[in-house]
Amino acid sequence: MNDTSQRVDFLLDALTREEKLRLVSGRTDPDGTATGYLPGVDRLGVPEFRLVDGPLGVRAEGKRATAFPASIAVAAAFGPELAREMGAAMAREARALDQDALLAPGTNLIRVPHCGRNFEYYSEDPVLASRTTAGAVAGIHDEDVIATVKHYVANNQETDRVRVSSEVDERTLRELYLRPFRAAVEADVGSVMTAYNRVNGTHMSDHERLVGDVLKGEWGFDGYVVSDWYGTESTVGAATAGLDLEMPGVPVGTEDTDPESDWEWPAGDDLEGEAAEIMGGLPDGTKAGLFGDPLAAAIDAGEVPADRLDDMVRRLLGQLDRIGRLEDEGGESGSGDGSSKSDGELDTPRHRRLAETIAARGTVLLENDDALPLGEETDIAVIGPNVHEARLGGGGSSETTPFRSTSPVAGLRARAAGEVAVARGVDSVPDLSLFDVLPFVGEGEGEQLADEPTTESVGIDASDPSIDAAVEAARDAAAAVVFVRDRTTEAKDRDSLRLPGEQDELVAAVAGAADETVVVVNSSGPVELPWREDVDAILEAWYPGQADGAAIAEVLYGDRDPGGRLPVTFAPEGAYPASNERRYPGVDGRAHYEEGVFVGYRHFDRDDVEAEPTYPFGHGHSYADLSYRAASVVDDRTVRVTIENAADRSGREVVQAYLRPPYSSPVDRPVRELAGFESVELAAGETRTLELELESRALGRYDAEAGWTIDPGTYTVELARSARDVRETVSLEVDSENEV
Ligand code: GLC
Repeated sequence: MNDTSQRVDFLLDALTREEKLRLVSGRTDPDGTATGYLPGVDRLGVPEFRLVDGPLGVRAEGKRATAFPASIAVAAAFGPELAREMGAAMAREARALDQDALLAPGTNLIRVPHCGRNFEYYSEDPVLASRTTAGAVAGIHDEDVIATVKHYVANNQETDRVRVSSEVDERTLRELYLRPFRAAVEADVGSVMTAYNRVNGTHMSDHERLVGDVLKGEWGFDGYVVSDWYGTESTVGAATAGLDLEMPGVPVGTEDTDPESDWEWPAGDDLEGEAAEIMGGLPDGTKAGLFGDPLAAAIDAGEVPADRLDDMVRRLLGQLDRIGRLEDEGGESGSGDGSSKSDGELDTPRHRRLAETIAARGTVLLENDDALPLGEETDIAVIGPNVHEARLGGGGSSETTPFRSTSPVAGLRARAAGEVAVARGVDSVPDLSLFDVLPFVGEGEGEQLADEPTTESVGIDASDPSIDAAVEAARDAAAAVVFVRDRTTEAKDRDSLRLPGEQDELVAAVAGAADETVVVVNSSGPVELPWREDVDAILEAWYPGQADGAAIAEVLYGDRDPGGRLPVTFAPEGAYPASNERRYPGVDGRAHYEEGVFVGYRHFDRDDVEAEPTYPFGHGHSYADLSYRAASVVDDRTVRVTIENAADRSGREVVQAYLRPPYSSPVDRPVRELAGFESVELAAGETRTLELELESRALGRYDAEAGWTIDPGTYTVELARSARDVRETVSLEVDSENEV
């Protein structure tokens, strides 16, 4: 028996039932910083335990932390190693803020382009999402913090998220939506958070088949399953299904959270407009404590076996021990490296550099008609409603508050040698923060921020913005750089893929006047770009986080090659597969995933789909001049290809390998599926031969009877720059296998 199980067994024997119950349902953090809290059991050396958001950086109440780029930007870098570095950095910051579990990564697949949380997720493709998820999980655990992969599963919209049932067939669940979570389990993730939604009619916290049978049974997950906040459906149902920890465990607004509080959880019709919409996406904050006395009563009544409570506690203690938080009888810290528990680090130079690197690496050059890189001496006009502030992220639980940030104006003024004029053009696009719109959501948590951040911004023309003034500034410059953005939050989906306000009009007016027009888009995912044929270059920079202006300046001036490729298809709004009400947002509380596995590029590749992507999955230009040759098969999971950079400057390439199944496939399969990728930096004139590992599950398909199945036959491997730009192909002979 290893040390962990000895320590945990000892504690399980020693803990009273009352003490065990205090370990499965949250309490209010006396320090007021944690998102979720357990008081521990002092007499037995079980320490207090803090859980904290979120995927873009640590959101400890009243505390600042590094604001990293949004998850979708990390995925756009096609660099799981970057995800790992970011996970480790966030974990160090969590430690520095005395937190033990990070509620990250979020990895729900991007099924619906409007989803208000797409920025917190990775991709429409399960292989890109899986590898990026595994990287993030490994990084968080590298620093002895518990990673919490979320939201399990099929939580692909914010509209009606606490009531909707995702109606998904088994093959689609297995081949798409479950895969990134399985990858997290294979990366030894410590915790899984159940989603608010139902799947095929059963609430995820009560879902015995997906939580008990698949996650814990089939995949062997041995960590703990935590509810989303106020997302526990029932005591007996959840305990039986396999939920191990109810969070936050205390109703909002009770004396525990804010003795002075005199408000009540508002009924939806007390609110209007956006607040009412967001309210519709919030759980009932008074529904808490289900794993307190009700669980004790259910055990006493024989509705929940007593050893289920022991299993819950064992899973939690096992993770506490893994990160070195449990003392052994001698008072020494436990098995994890937590005994050398670093004090973490916060807002250090290496974290700031990493935030900038990821933001630049995730930036996608969608179009470039020889407008970029900007000339060193070029006089520019920086135009846009929010150019005076970094685009940190979207609204909701992922919001971070950095110590410092660099606005586009500040970043470009610091980098440019030429003149930099500034004009907002149209009214600022206001942030949409869940906590601003519904202040009670954050009621009674932590002190407000006392200090002021260091925003490397600059004074902005305080006069009313006007398109005419922006046009004049553009006309007087050699190049206009226009920054536009969308507006998103958790608990609400976007109503449209068009940019809010009069930003499209601004871009069109500037493009009509400027010698050269470059547009930088800061969005959560796909947006409509109606002026795209009227401008000279377009960059998709997502939500770059605190390093915004610095990172985009590096890319605009060519200090860094735009390393990003699209992790999600950009297409006309109505062309996506979930574009009817029955599929999204659903009717009578059910969203029917009738498109099956044909999400994203899998949909647009179908012979019967006429709509063409505006920009395909995997798309992105480089400043260099890259070519492919001499592709070959190494073995049945590895292919080789040679890449050459003929330019006189370095460049980054994301080599993608897609698999096309044999024509003899007995079921309707996607034309191609991403099976592997690698992002490489090539020096000027460099030639390099790469070997790409192909994911077995990209070869396979899920059969409801036979399980994962690899059909024998001849597969085609496409070596490509995107799903629509294939450069080399090779044939791959595959024998039949079943275990993937
Ligand atoms: C939120 C989110 C989840 C977050 C949790 C705690 O509702 O769905 O991602 O970690 O509650 O804030």
